[in-house]
Amino acid sequence: MKNNKDYFLGTDLTELERLKLQHDIWKPYVLEAWKRSGISSGSKVIDIGAGPGYASFDLSQIVGEAGEVYSIERSVNFTNYISKIKEEQNLQNLNVYNLDLIADDFPNITAHAAWCRWVACFVSDPKLLIDKINKSLRNGGVAIFYEYINYESFRLVPQSNALITFVENVVKNWRESGGEPNIANVLPTLLAENGFKITSTKPHVFSATPSDLIWQWPFTFVYTHVDRLFELGKVSKEWVSNVRSELINAQNNPESFFITPTVLEIIAEKIK
Ligand SMILES: C[S@@+](CC[C@H](N)C(=O)[O-])C[C@H]1O[C@@H](n2cnc3c(N)ncnc32)[C@H](O)[C@@H]1O
Repeated sequence: MKNNKDYFLGTDLTELERLKLQHDIWKPYVLEAWKRSGISSGSKVIDIGAGPGYASFDLSQIVGEAGEVYSIERSVNFTNYISKIKEEQNLQNLNVYNLDLIADDFPNITAHAAWCRWVACFVSDPKLLIDKINKSLRNGGVAIFYEYINYESFRLVPQSNALITFVENVVKNWRESGGEPNIANVLPTLLAENGFKITSTKPHVFSATPSDLIWQWPFTFVYTHVDRLFELGKVSKEWVSNVRSELINAQNNPESFFITPTVLEIIAEKIK
């Protein structure tokens, strides 16, 4: 039975594994951003829309015994997974909350930092999300966002018509589900209007050939998400096979490369 709190990418094992691969690939950039934001031993950090908690587990190690990590996530599959790892690894500084970021109240927290990656793009009310993040931070606390600013930069070279239609379908379905893929276009204004000062912005876009580790990130997303679009009744079986076969052809061609969807890192400080 489908969990009505699932987000549109799904929360099954395939998505759990995809999110792990995605987290591992992005980890060097993320660790560096956390360091620049002052997250260290003793910090209290909220993981906003934590998914299966891969960032939370890393944060738990970084902040150590004197710190706290608060993982907020609405999918029960994911919070169960976080709780399981918390218990197995005895992560006493990890606090798990099964909550909806928009419909529910946040726990009563005063944190040093909030980490929000690929979440603001799914919520129905990003302004309310920012307001809640603001209220959960101490003055001078930081909010770090990794969100898309130009999803449509995503392409395969040599050009693949199937990938062009894939990107169109993803963006259309995303908006129909109530999210905004390119939410990083509006976040800086929303942050400035809601008690934050932007301290830095940094775009991340990669060019990756089949032999690069980064290749696995877009490749796995396309390969698995076509099934999700089919399940949702958005595309035909024929379209799915067509996209997959162009994808495999590209993977077998060492000259091909992906340009990834552009992510904007935004670091903002709470000033009021
Ligand atoms: C693409 S995943 C990203 C997970 C994690 N932040 C990461 O970077 O690996 C988006 C997550 O946001 C969660 N999410 C979306 N809308 C939410 C809401 N309104 N309340 C709580 N969680 C939400 C989804 O359940 C999903 O786990």
